[in-house]
Amino acid sequence: MNPTLELLLTRRSVKAIDMIEPGPDAGQIETILRCGIRVPDHGKLGPWRILRFTGDRRRAFGEVLVAAWRAAHPDDAPARAELERGRLERAPVVLAVVSRITPEHKIPQWEQQLSAGAVCQNLLLASHAMGFAAQWLTEWFSYDATVARALHLSPHERLAGWIHIGSAAGTPPERPRPVLEDVVRDWQP
Ligand SMILES: Cc1cc2nc3c(=O)[nH]c(=O)nc-3n(C[C@H](O)[C@H](O)[C@H](O)COP(=O)(O)O)c2cc1C
Repeated sequence: MNPTLELLLTRRSVKAIDMIEPGPDAGQIETILRCGIRVPDHGKLGPWRILRFTGDRRRAFGEVLVAAWRAAHPDDAPARAELERGRLERAPVVLAVVSRITPEHKIPQWEQQLSAGAVCQNLLLASHAMGFAAQWLTEWFSYDATVARALHLSPHERLAGWIHIGSAAGTPPERPRPVLEDVVRDWQP
């Protein structure tokens, strides 16, 4: 079968918790990023940007997550917040996709946001095509104001996904997939 179709028909996520080293090296990350931003984009707005987390930066961002968790859950046991310190270290490489909206533009906001989703999916596909494991996560910290401030997100920016990339520790289990017949119909006039 055509290898691109084969990839699309077999791709599946590997949970970040099941990822190990190695991740993509600097050159491979650049290729993944170049694939990531080659997406449909109505109006050529480039309504997204990407933050790269490798090496010690993952741990440093863990400090931000611990502080944000504590601020949001002051009554939680301190040990719960500590769990957040290693959150990004589950995967060797994490790419955060930021959706960046141009407000009051003739291109609807919805379409600008869809383009950021396409970036996330392209990052996944490029990672899988290179033989890496990958997963698209949002988790609590995509929706946390303290984290958004720490990332210097503008009011028109929000997190579309954290793409975790590494190697698979084992074979991921298949999950139930939608059946084509359930989700596709001929349009009836
Ligand atoms: C926008 C988005 C956000 C997601 N966030 C999470 C998450 O926070 N936690 C999680 O366990 N799975 C999350 N997922 C689901 C997984 O990344 C993945 O899609 C699923 O586990 C397996 O699907 P796949 O094998 O087709 O990739 C998210 C998926 C999408 C599209």
